Amino acid sequence: MPPIPSPQTQQPAVKLYDFHPPMEDFRSAVLRGLGLPQKQFSPQFLYDKRGSELFDAICQLPEYYLTRTEMAILRDNAGAIATALGHRVLVELGSGSSQKIRILLKAAPQVTTYVGVDISRQHLQEACAALMADFAELEAIAVCADYTKPLPLATIPELRDRPTIGFFPGSSIGNLEPAEVIAFLKTVAVLGDLIVGVDLKKSAAILEPAYDDVQGVSAAFALNVLTRINRELGADFDLTQFEYRAHYNEAAGRIEMAIASLCDQTVHLGDAKISFAAGETLRTEHSYKYTVDEFQLLAMEAGFQPVQVWTDADQLFSLHHLKQM
Ligand code: AVI
Repeated sequence: MPPIPSPQTQQPAVKLYDFHPPMEDFRSAVLRGLGLPQKQFSPQFLYDKRGSELFDAICQLPEYYLTRTEMAILRDNAGAIATALGHRVLVELGSGSSQKIRILLKAAPQVTTYVGVDISRQHLQEACAALMADFAELEAIAVCADYTKPLPLATIPELRDRPTIGFFPGSSIGNLEPAEVIAFLKTVAVLGDLIVGVDLKKSAAILEPAYDDVQGVSAAFALNVLTRINRELGADFDLTQFEYRAHYNEAAGRIEMAIASLCDQTVHLGDAKISFAAGETLRTEHSYKYTVDEFQLLAMEAGFQPVQVWTDADQLFSLHHLKQM
């Protein structure tokens, strides 16, 4: 058990518990991914400063229905969701959803403690400070940790002996492989109940434009990882020789996002030479889609009991309330 970090007061009254999550070395992770038979990167590498800005822009796109639909579900069911939260401490996994958490906090004034868990310390502290400025009765606690690893929440004095409920919106769970979903849910089971956003299965005609929009924002988001690698690792990816592709693999129930090489070429990264054949792809992300039943089955395999599910009228998106069996 690592030593319990003492809280540091950064902004007035925002407590930060910094568990110093170890960052995987970017260079070795990139080289490892480029050495695999199916070249691939971890989706987390997409989110440098520019990547995060581009992802925010994706969330505003007319084609990307996920964000606005989940917000509408939260608004339309705010009363029922507030009842589900009860008087528990609300623990958000990833603190990027400031608008979504605000909908919940407005609907549930009985929730007086919010804990944001995120690997990005600065972003997290700013988000907590902004929440405390807007919600006078709220104590917001920042926990800098990797929420995919066992959560050290029990070591935080403010949470000892207090019931918690986890909030994991955005369908980020869809970026995990199904086996990883089960492992992830088992890890976050320490929170007790969970409210989790999950994108639903639908036609490729809706899904593919959501991940490959006419303005090219999704393409810029994916290709930005090559710019990042050129800048940070001194590689020489020629962005004019690669293109972004997003395809709905209906049998696997997932959008497959990749960068394809437009010709036979060799890219240099330090001493390493990486060859690409024309048409060869480098996987950037999978985004799994589930029916309500499929997701509930996965949750049950992880030891959760589905309590309730909220969806929109068009059955685009779902918000699940799960509790420990
Ligand atoms: C973060 N995650 C839920 C997004 C998704 O829909 O899978 C990531 C994304 N990548 C491209 N567009 C959106």
